[in-house]
Amino acid sequence: MNASAAVAAAVVPAAGRGERLGPGAPKALRELGGVPLLVHAVRALARSRAVGLVVVAAPADGVAEVVALLDSHGLDGKDIRVVAGGATRQESVRLGLAAIPAEVEIVLVHDAARPLVPVEVVDAVAAAVRAGAGAVVPAVPLADTVKRVEPNPGRPEPVLDTPDRATLRAVQTPQGFDRTTLVGVHAKALAEEAAGAADAPPVTDDAGLVERYGGQVVVVPGHEEAFKVTRPLDLVLAEAVLARRRAADAY
Ligand code: CTP
Ligand code: MG
Repeated sequence: MNASAAVAAAVVPAAGRGERLGPGAPKALRELGGVPLLVHAVRALARSRAVGLVVVAAPADGVAEVVALLDSHGLDGKDIRVVAGGATRQESVRLGLAAIPAEVEIVLVHDAARPLVPVEVVDAVAAAVRAGAGAVVPAVPLADTVKRVEPNPGRPEPVLDTPDRATLRAVQTPQGFDRTTLVGVHAKALAEEAAGAADAPPVTDDAGLVERYGGQVVVVPGHEEAFKVTRPLDLVLAEAVLARRRAADAY
């Protein structure tokens, strides 16, 4: 692998509406400490020496706005590109992947909705791919016991079983991939969708696509601050984490 191939490109899906966060701007543009979530997320990636290019998949009607936003927050020095995202996270990632130059061999995919991921997690995921893993996800053990149920919204739901919590992990991003592997599974998924195939359960992350087509995924330690901003309470927690960081930096 030559030097430029060893530098990763990061795709940042940022085209979601943020329905669960409630009414307002698209989630990636909502502010945390006065700065949009997307800007935090891109900065976190750009801080890593392992990352040489960031491709943001913006809301399709917000590309110009996102370009202006990134400029106004001084995100220069790194190569940052903005493309229009799609109707699903999977489509947004696929559109982002298409904008990565051919020589790049390592790709990270990082949710705009995880603004506080520590740079150590970014570095560790990229390093694991560089060391030979085809697909790497950062993850943390679960605090809660988890039960599988027969879904029956609005009614008491029968429990099917309780997986052993010691074998479960909550996965985060950035997820890291050998570029060929990731592009390949996205292409397969698109072809299957076009053929109208499969009522398989929806795949909610990129590693899940690798698993679907039989690839090996490995887990490395994630970080509690890499949590995803999904509901209003997550934003409260994110503000508190950011305030704690800023206070620590002031000393
Ligand atoms: N995402 C995307 N394109 C979509 C949907 C989601 O790029 N069509 C991105 C989001 O912007 C987010 C990441 O995927 O950074 C994770 O998705 P999620 O947390 O579900 O965000 P939203 O889809 O925006 O939120 P919600 O599901 O509550 O509407
Ligand atoms: Mg969503």
